[in-house]
Amino acid sequence: MEKENNKLEKIVALCKRRGFVFQGSEIYGGLAGTWDFGHLGSKLSHNIKELWWNRFVESRDDMYGLEASSMMPESVWKASGHLGEGFTDPMIECTKCKRRFRADHLEDKVKCPECGGKLGEERKFNTMFPVSVGSAAGSANTAYLRGELAQAMFVNFRNYMDTERPKLPFGIAQIGRAYRNEIAARDFIFRVREWNLAEFEYFVREKDWEETFEMWRKEMWAWIEEVGIDKDKVHELEVAPEDRAHYSKRTVDFEYDFSFGRKELYGLAYRTDFDLSNHAKHSGVDMSYADQEAGEKFVPHVIEPTFGLGRTMLAILDSAFTEDELGGEPRTYLKLSSKIAPVKAAVFPLLKNKPELVEKAREVYKMLKKEIPQVVWDDNGNIGKRYRRQDEIGTPFCITIDFDTLGEKPELKDTVTLRHRDTGEQERLLLSELANFISEKIK
Ligand code: GAP
Repeated sequence: MEKENNKLEKIVALCKRRGFVFQGSEIYGGLAGTWDFGHLGSKLSHNIKELWWNRFVESRDDMYGLEASSMMPESVWKASGHLGEGFTDPMIECTKCKRRFRADHLEDKVKCPECGGKLGEERKFNTMFPVSVGSAAGSANTAYLRGELAQAMFVNFRNYMDTERPKLPFGIAQIGRAYRNEIAARDFIFRVREWNLAEFEYFVREKDWEETFEMWRKEMWAWIEEVGIDKDKVHELEVAPEDRAHYSKRTVDFEYDFSFGRKELYGLAYRTDFDLSNHAKHSGVDMSYADQEAGEKFVPHVIEPTFGLGRTMLAILDSAFTEDELGGEPRTYLKLSSKIAPVKAAVFPLLKNKPELVEKAREVYKMLKKEIPQVVWDDNGNIGKRYRRQDEIGTPFCITIDFDTLGEKPELKDTVTLRHRDTGEQERLLLSELANFISEKIK
């Protein structure tokens, strides 16, 4: 891993240079732990979310979707245990410069690593974000920005029982923003204060929890492969009881070998009936499931796979970032899976100053764009520069319209050059086959 020491810096630089990710509120000095996804970053993020949603919701009969509010009242978080000790990180504050540090990230707990001042006592710091809700002065109530999505699935459980009448086992899935007031946001988009999270709560009979846990463990590996994360860099970790979240009876973390260390990518937890039972107790609403045929009524147990999408993007970028040599020149490119690449293909006229080439290339571009929206036009600089630019953002295919397309060599009329990103190899394809060829590759 030593060789990769500056890999994160290179990825951060590429992300900024090519408009994937910018520091949040940068012109005002930036807000620590916040990042904004630019044109390509938001497209990549959108593709990841769509792939996740299609895989875990649309393609299944046992999963229901939810899009809940990011703010929930204090009562929810009291019942879930998030306002207690369970959702705290160990924190140490410098007595001199007042900077705060995660105690478990410090090697020396006496001297401040920033100013050399004396560090204070270690204490517990709750990472939930309070917000004041209410329009009339003095009438504000404290709500919290959600620290996880799961609570909305539990709080809405009764609604799903009444509207969908699902049969066990089934899940409720959601993609959305999550917020934590991290003591030390760091490592680019790895540890932030606001991020995209995708998770589902899968409700089962208690006796089925182990089998279901194994089923989702395999499904998580299948997702890792599909989204284009290097499987060889992912490792499972059986989380020790003292390190598990307060609601979990078993957790397996999926860790990734980032260039800054092996860190948590995803989690798979057995949450028992902890959440539903606590919400039943605190709200007075019945959270049980009635099996009419068996004449049983009980509170279901829960298996929860959770996928941080910012970390997904970072692991994808880390897996895809490649430096090689092509045609005797060094190049940097993103070996992104065609399924999630923000641009699927770029269309060029060979020369920008030949109206007949530009006209034909525009025609091809329009035809493709109708079938495959994530296609772009590029006529800036020479062809070599265009290839490098597209390689750097992970575009799998470049299509060049040249004089042969127009019929200079009659046997090549209505064909184009299609260049493959990873190998730089080129082939000649019939125009009429182009849209089908690319559509097949990006499925
Ligand atoms: N509902 C379960 C839950 O919230 P978690 O392990 O605390 O579990 C879920 O968080 C996932 O969210 C993690 O596996 C990780 O991918 C991501 N995550 C957690 N904290 C994060 C942070 N500060 N910045 C970015 N991603 C984070």
